[in-house]
Amino acid sequence: MGEEDVGLFVTVEESKVRRVAYKIFAVSILVGIGMIWSYRVCNIPRTGEAGRWVWLGLFTAELWFGFYWIITQSVRWNIVHRYTTTFFKDTPSLSRNREKLPDVDIFVCTADPVMEPPQLVINTVLSLMAYDYPPEKLTVYLSDDGCSDLTFYALLEASHFSKHWIPFCNKFKVEPRSPEAFFTEMLKFNGHASGEEWFAIKRLYEDMKKRVMSATELGRVPEEVREQHKGFSEWNAGVTKGDHQTILQIVIDGRDPNAVDVEGASLPTLVYLAREKRPQYPHNFKAGAMNALIRVSSEISKGEIILNVDCDMYSNNSETLRDVLCFFMDEVNGPQISYVQFPQNYYNVTENDIYCNTNKVVNQLELAGVDGYGGALYCGTGCFHRREALCGRKYSSECRGQQNRKIERKEERSIGEVAEKCKVLANCTYERGTQWGKEMGLMYGCPVEDIITGLAIQCRGWKPIYYNPERPGFLGNAPTSLLQHLVQFKRWSEGMFQIFLSKYCPFLYGKGRIKLGLQMGYCVYCLWAANSFPTLYYVLVPSLCFLNGISMFPKMSSIWFLPFAYVFVAKNVYSLVEALRCKNTLEEWWNLQRMLLIRRTTSFVFGFVDTIVRQLGFSQTAFVITTKVVDDEASKRYKQGILEFGASSPMFTILATIALFNLFALVGGVIKMMVMGMGVLVVEQFSSQIIIAGLVVAINIPVYEAMFIRKDKGRMPTSTTITSLVFALLLCLTPLY
Ligand SMILES: *[C@@H]1O[C@H](CO)[C@@H](O)[C@H](O)[C@H]1NC(C)=O
Ligand SMILES: *[C@@H]1O[C@H](CO)[C@@H](O)[C@H](O)[C@H]1NC(C)=O
Repeated sequence: MGEEDVGLFVTVEESKVRRVAYKIFAVSILVGIGMIWSYRVCNIPRTGEAGRWVWLGLFTAELWFGFYWIITQSVRWNIVHRYTTTFFKDTPSLSRNREKLPDVDIFVCTADPVMEPPQLVINTVLSLMAYDYPPEKLTVYLSDDGCSDLTFYALLEASHFSKHWIPFCNKFKVEPRSPEAFFTEMLKFNGHASGEEWFAIKRLYEDMKKRVMSATELGRVPEEVREQHKGFSEWNAGVTKGDHQTILQIVIDGRDPNAVDVEGASLPTLVYLAREKRPQYPHNFKAGAMNALIRVSSEISKGEIILNVDCDMYSNNSETLRDVLCFFMDEVNGPQISYVQFPQNYYNVTENDIYCNTNKVVNQLELAGVDGYGGALYCGTGCFHRREALCGRKYSSECRGQQNRKIERKEERSIGEVAEKCKVLANCTYERGTQWGKEMGLMYGCPVEDIITGLAIQCRGWKPIYYNPERPGFLGNAPTSLLQHLVQFKRWSEGMFQIFLSKYCPFLYGKGRIKLGLQMGYCVYCLWAANSFPTLYYVLVPSLCFLNGISMFPKMSSIWFLPFAYVFVAKNVYSLVEALRCKNTLEEWWNLQRMLLIRRTTSFVFGFVDTIVRQLGFSQTAFVITTKVVDDEASKRYKQGILEFGASSPMFTILATIALFNLFALVGGVIKMMVMGMGVLVVEQFSSQIIIAGLVVAINIPVYEAMFIRKDKGRMPTSTTITSLVFALLLCLTPLY
């Protein structure tokens, strides 16, 4: 096989039948939506008639849903899947091409030794150091924005342990290569390692874990350890998290002939960096840390490929690195590829995935649909970058052909000199008057800087890739309580909506630079927050009207009932089919519907309000997550698939109010109809509203349980239940005009 003229990856579209079928379906829905709109326009109650204003409100909500639905077509219209060849995976062709393999820099970012325990961080680092890749071409950087000597200490321990761990992994083809995950999974392991070696390495790991954990609990590094490594001298009395000099330590110098593992093989380089922080300079959060890493690494290792991973996300596949090279090294399409983004997967999801942390439909179809228009959303973790694209270079066809050009390493200088020089690059003042944070590196000034950065890279002409291999490349730690989950979604929806309102709005910024489908694809997520109020309206007002005896939908026997019924049923059946196709269960789909409703009526509402309030120049609502540490009871409930409330939060009040109000409206409305002795005719008139209220009630059954039945600590706090009861009753009494 001529290696050079064969593509290294393939792009597969959905089958033709499926694409055509989808398009017919989409058009039929569009017709339905059009008819719903015309029904609303033609039947507006006259001035003075009951329900005129609520009618107009409902029409506005339906206009919005129709518009949003059109936007979401972009992520279904043109789905593509990417598959790599085994070119860099099978050993013979790998060894023949060893020279060609690019240098790779891996950036791991951590920000806080309490929220992100050092023990977790080093497991991530170890899993990445153990990539099946020539160690002399691999450099792992840990950026510690917490500037914690505990994290540095843990990294030192990890560097010692890696000398045993990496050869062990290579010898026994261990997967996954995060020791914690490996030894947890190994309970059900039937063993290719000999028992003796296995126990030896396990003991080493347990010992290290014990030392790291006890130092973390103590909150300081033992004195005798501090004396052994001169690196600790940097943490003198003046150093605090927000005010310190740059600390740069080369923990393992891969070029040093003495830095070898127990089998005598060389090791990847390992670098610790805490960039300078001073109270008077904005540090720009993770984007600032990434930019400092980009500059520092450009002096130390200058890898052509940069992998960026969050510290709670370990590698689940030691071949991932070689696998993605198929994209970057492809002769034809490779040179234009700026980054390869992996989906977010979690090791920590339970059977029914109660919070829908892994949204399989989004991962398998929607993001692949964005890719169909030549784009991928850069999510800030699990992403391989081409250094020059990340550094702000525009794509031009002249770049082609240069891809195998090796960037000269500055071998002649000693590592000490290099490190000394690099420190300046991580100083607060370095970026002043430069394009860093604007045209170069990650962009500043937005909570979801990754997404904007990705968009900007695409607008410079690059084509990223979304890659969702069968076996997940990275596994993260999913939020295990409802509030954590909702606050996370609030932050995302807020950041995305902020992008929409800024000059980086995909429709403006991307105009003429990226395809319309891609602009729309971005807006599916940018407009999450805007769904909040229409949804809130839809789950409250029709029920309220029902209670007040005002009909808002066509009668069942009317011809106008058809488009409503069709759009509703067809959309839901389609989403169910799609979910089943992505290997969700029926129950998972039902859970997802609940979570979608909850997110829209809580996270997105606050995300929307905060964004608007900020645009107007006021300060925003503050959310404090009280319980970050999950206790045993709570984690047991999580495993059993029970929703976790427990704390009081305005989000839960909204949630409970909606649930209670719909229950009251349903019961109250039905009683009222019976008392008045109304016949089939009237029932027919209110069927749609009864169905809406009924569905909201059905989907909220776990919420009622949490309020009235459960006795555990994760139940709805009594104060929230009472407040919501009051709100729900007040809503019932609201008069309508
Ligand atoms: C991680 O990779 C292993 C293969 O080594 C695979 O069996 C497993 O399903 C992956 N984990 C998850 C959570 O997908
Ligand atoms: C999820 O992760 C947390 C923290 O790492 C852990 O305490 C919990 O047991 C995990 N849960 C599951 C279901 O794996």
